[in-house]
Amino acid sequence: MKGCILVVDDEQDMLLLLKRIIGEETDHKVVTTTDPLEALEQIKTGGFDLMITDLKMPKMNGIRLLGKVKEMDPTISVIVMTAFGTIETAVEATRKGAFDYITKPFRRERILVTIENVMSYQSVARENRALREALGRGNGFASLLGVTPVMQDIFDRIRQVAPTQGTVLITGPSGTGKELVARALHAHSHRREKRLITLNCTVIPENVLESELFGHVKGAFTGAWKDKRGLVEDAHGGTLFLDEIGDLSPVLQTKMLRLLQEGEYRPVGGNATRQADIRFIAATNRRLKEEIAQGRFREDLYYRLNVINFDLPPLADRRGDIPLLSHHFLKKYAAINHKTIAEIGPHAMQRLLALDYPGNIRELENIIERGVIFCRSEALAVEDLFLDREPVAPAEPYALPASLSQLSFKDAKEQMMAIFHRQFIDHLLRENGGNVSRAAQKAGIQRQYLHRLMKDAGLMTEHYKEAAEPKEDTMNPERAVASPEG
Ligand SMILES: Nc1ncnc2c1ncn2[C@@H]1O[C@H](COP(=O)(O)OP(=O)(O)OP(=O)(O)O)[C@@H](O)[C@H]1O
Ligand SMILES: [Mg+2]
Repeated sequence: MKGCILVVDDEQDMLLLLKRIIGEETDHKVVTTTDPLEALEQIKTGGFDLMITDLKMPKMNGIRLLGKVKEMDPTISVIVMTAFGTIETAVEATRKGAFDYITKPFRRERILVTIENVMSYQSVARENRALREALGRGNGFASLLGVTPVMQDIFDRIRQVAPTQGTVLITGPSGTGKELVARALHAHSHRREKRLITLNCTVIPENVLESELFGHVKGAFTGAWKDKRGLVEDAHGGTLFLDEIGDLSPVLQTKMLRLLQEGEYRPVGGNATRQADIRFIAATNRRLKEEIAQGRFREDLYYRLNVINFDLPPLADRRGDIPLLSHHFLKKYAAINHKTIAEIGPHAMQRLLALDYPGNIRELENIIERGVIFCRSEALAVEDLFLDREPVAPAEPYALPASLSQLSFKDAKEQMMAIFHRQFIDHLLRENGGNVSRAAQKAGIQRQYLHRLMKDAGLMTEHYKEAAEPKEDTMNPERAVASPEG
């Protein structure tokens, strides 16, 4: 990231030195001044990411300057410089919101590392702010979120299709948001004042389902004391959402077809047909084409339903949505659990971006919920996610995900870096039988650094040792929490 730095020191030599170091080693823009009041004027003009200031200055000391700058713009990071004798004041400065302090004289690397730390912090913080703003603005679809082009396209089509009478079939793997799309369609239709009735075709046994749907007349069967309204009647004027339509039995498929075609139905045990004014939305995670080929689903019903199709892609194909969704769930579960967790740490986000998500958004939601519960600070850390205890899938051979082109350069790079780290280290550890010291030496990196990379990638030495015991699920209470339901 190219940033903008303001350096304040009453000694001109120090300003020249810093300007030279930063100019030679980085792309950041540097503005310098010997006068703290002038520094405040500069800050007013905006655009600074970092202020580096001396502590002892004649017109105003560094601590006061820090306070005033933070008042004007709390997002600016401040590094204070101090001579060896005044470290205590520097520590006080960090307590008052300084990012870090460095003692003079300093080594070139020390100041450069500190600056880069600030800049990566600034870039994460900026992203966090942007996401919070995006969440605040919303898109008119309550909690249905997404920034990737596929999701934007789905939002556009929802707006287009919702006000019509067209029957909609929503397909996609489990946990991809099919129910949310159904709700959004109803909420943007002319029927929104009327009810949205959801019928889950899986959970109810066939004979019960029929009377649930169409109602029954008194005496239709033993126990039918009186007439009972069905869901179809409840949905009159509104929307009927047939969830898991792929699970509907053949008999009910036929009755459903009639309802769809003629808008007619008959309560169980009744003689008279009734008319229904209903908008139909159906959803399934089954591949209906295959079900048809197997003779389990009526082709004519399929064509009736599939007038307009929304096919929701798996989360792994739209990773660009992960940051936004993660923040959304963070906010949700922080509120539910009465915690103040403002952001997701960079390592945690890196891990979240790299996961496979067989359970899609529901799985991401579970991970964040668990993270919020275990989180002890104001930022969600990679340790809070408890991902390292899950079995690590064998690394796949290198392939550029097709979805990459849908991401911003930054997200795509982050994603590829995470994949690269994981695969490189996986290979390295395999070659060296899980011996970290040897692996580090082989790769020409510090052992501690390798440890950190392994932690970020969720790789553990045990997996690579010759006589590794298979991990037992029962030893892993977190796994049960993590696995997607259903
Ligand atoms: N685009 C999204 N934005 C925000 N939250 C989402 C989104 N998609 C899904 N979710 C959340 O993920 C969870 C699963 O979504 P939903 O129940 O709609 O999935 P589904 O496709 O119907 O899954 P299933 O096939 O298992 O029924 C819900 O808690 C939902 O709120
Ligand atoms: Mg569902």
